[in-house]
Amino acid sequence: MIRVHTDHEALSRAAAELFAEQARLSVEARGRFCVALSGGETPRRTFELLATTPWREQVPWPHLEVFWGDERCVPVSDSASNQGMARRTFLDRLPIPTSRIHPMNGEAEPAAAAEAYERELDRVFAPEPPRFDLLLLGLGSDGHTASLFPGSASLEEQSRRVLPVQAAGQPFARLTLTLPVLNSARLVAFLVSGADKAEILRRVLRSTDHDLPAARVSPEEGEVLWLVDQSAVWEGSRRPGSILR
Ligand code: 6PG
Repeated sequence: MIRVHTDHEALSRAAAELFAEQARLSVEARGRFCVALSGGETPRRTFELLATTPWREQVPWPHLEVFWGDERCVPVSDSASNQGMARRTFLDRLPIPTSRIHPMNGEAEPAAAAEAYERELDRVFAPEPPRFDLLLLGLGSDGHTASLFPGSASLEEQSRRVLPVQAAGQPFARLTLTLPVLNSARLVAFLVSGADKAEILRRVLRSTDHDLPAARVSPEEGEVLWLVDQSAVWEGSRRPGSILR
């Protein structure tokens, strides 16, 4: 399902609405809302909105379990830190118990940090395997998502839940959830904005090219929702609000 929004602000408001709605439904059904945040710049505005009225009042913050889909191996104070961005834009402004915010450790040795995060996932989700109520993802212009990059061996991983990765041309190592975790989510929401993403979005949505990591996100018992803005949608289907197949 694809929802086309007029611009980045409208997309961000829709994403904040989705977050609040899924939080309420998850807490009603299971007593908590397990969410994995995406990184990069696209979700920044969504996070800012979640700390403002009306979403601030709508989300049952004390009942969240907040994780990340991936992290850059940098200090949390670094502008590249996904944790740092989320804390500055909303998490540190809301009544979420510290024990319910589960950052990936960007400052430890990557392999050890990945193993530690697997233990944290197993602890919080035990006795079940990790299954997110909502998994936010972005789309890189090369088709990567989380920190699963084209051609990476991490794409074929079937047992590890978290891996360290060093992608060609990337200035830092990263940590990422693997496809088995992404594909166990109840709901995956891709947030895609900007004309620079139009070509890759078209390729991912029309492609059977499994070299595109984002095209491999297909939960067995869940659904995928694409929240995109007009500038990221190729010609011919730019009507705001249009629901493309
Ligand atoms: C990361 C992200 C990554 C991101 C895409 C899109 O840590 O880099 O998780 O998968 O979502 O690269 O990034 P932008 O939103 O900045 O375009």
